[in-house]
Amino acid sequence: MVTETLPAAVVEALPKKGFLNIPVGKDVDVVAEINRLRKEKNAVILAHYYQEGAIQDIADYVGDSLGLSQQAAATQADLIVFAGVHFMGETAKILNPDKKVVLPDLKAGCSLAESAEPNAFRAFKEQHPDHIVVTYINCSAEIKAMSDIICTSANAEKIVNSIPKDKPIIFAPDKNLGRYLIKKTGRDMLLWEGACIVHEAFAIDKLLDLAKQHPHARIVAHPESEDHILKVAHYIGSTTGMINFVKNDPAQEFIIATEAGILHQMAKEVPGKDLIPAPSHEDNTCACSECAFMRMNTLEKLYLCLKYELPEIQVPEDIRRKALVPIQRMLEISKS
Ligand code: 13P
Ligand code: SF4
Repeated sequence: MVTETLPAAVVEALPKKGFLNIPVGKDVDVVAEINRLRKEKNAVILAHYYQEGAIQDIADYVGDSLGLSQQAAATQADLIVFAGVHFMGETAKILNPDKKVVLPDLKAGCSLAESAEPNAFRAFKEQHPDHIVVTYINCSAEIKAMSDIICTSANAEKIVNSIPKDKPIIFAPDKNLGRYLIKKTGRDMLLWEGACIVHEAFAIDKLLDLAKQHPHARIVAHPESEDHILKVAHYIGSTTGMINFVKNDPAQEFIIATEAGILHQMAKEVPGKDLIPAPSHEDNTCACSECAFMRMNTLEKLYLCLKYELPEIQVPEDIRRKALVPIQRMLEISKS
């Protein structure tokens, strides 16, 4: 239940801004207010590992895309506050048409999701009508509605292997994950040409130099990274998989090739280990990569969206119904 009304100008500006542009007074204890409001509204806060540390710390659940979808599918909350990017909030809404799903900033997009424009994708699909369409969860609801089954980095290999060997496959939108899966499964898939700007920013020459300086370090990479990065990695997996690897591997030093937000949770899980962010092409002082989309969310925006229950994720019902089918297929296969 929304208890406070908003100035008309703030509501009018919302579609253009993407978030509630209201100053939060210095006297407001944002953490205490979030804790009070989430109880009062029976809200759940779901956060991805790429969110800033303060958001991860206040979330009810922090996880990878698969874990977040599973939480969204199972939640008993009335209000879902999704601290992640737009396609993640959309997935939660597709699974929960009767619940309100809010995102701190609606403009928190994803370069991969943007790479698959629905009309172009429809035309591509029409050229290959006999193909099964396996789509990475980093895509819009419209693309999901055109897919046969969704996957995440955590279950992609299993999903591809679940498709009968005689069926040709389209894999979209991440070409790097697609290439990795072709190698892992031996399936000759047709790839869409999308990529993640963050994972394509890692510099192999700098990474090899860093590995020389830390000869005992294990290189841990997300499969959205380019092939030359994956070739030198000791472990490749989803964000949750990467955290588990660092936890269970006896090495002391790890070079982490994914968005730098993960280091917050990793450091909590393995406080005694040395975590080194993989270097990117660009010279930045922290030598780390941050997803500009993920970082559009802030603790203040999260507080405001919980308080006013805006901005809300909306998915047209015809698209939602179609998109639900491939998501449910993925969740079913991921149970076993
Ligand atoms: P995970 O599902 O591994 O958390 O990946 C999400 C993502 O956006 C990677 O860039
Ligand atoms: Fe999208 Fe890459 Fe950001 Fe993940 S890290 S949300 S794939 S742009």
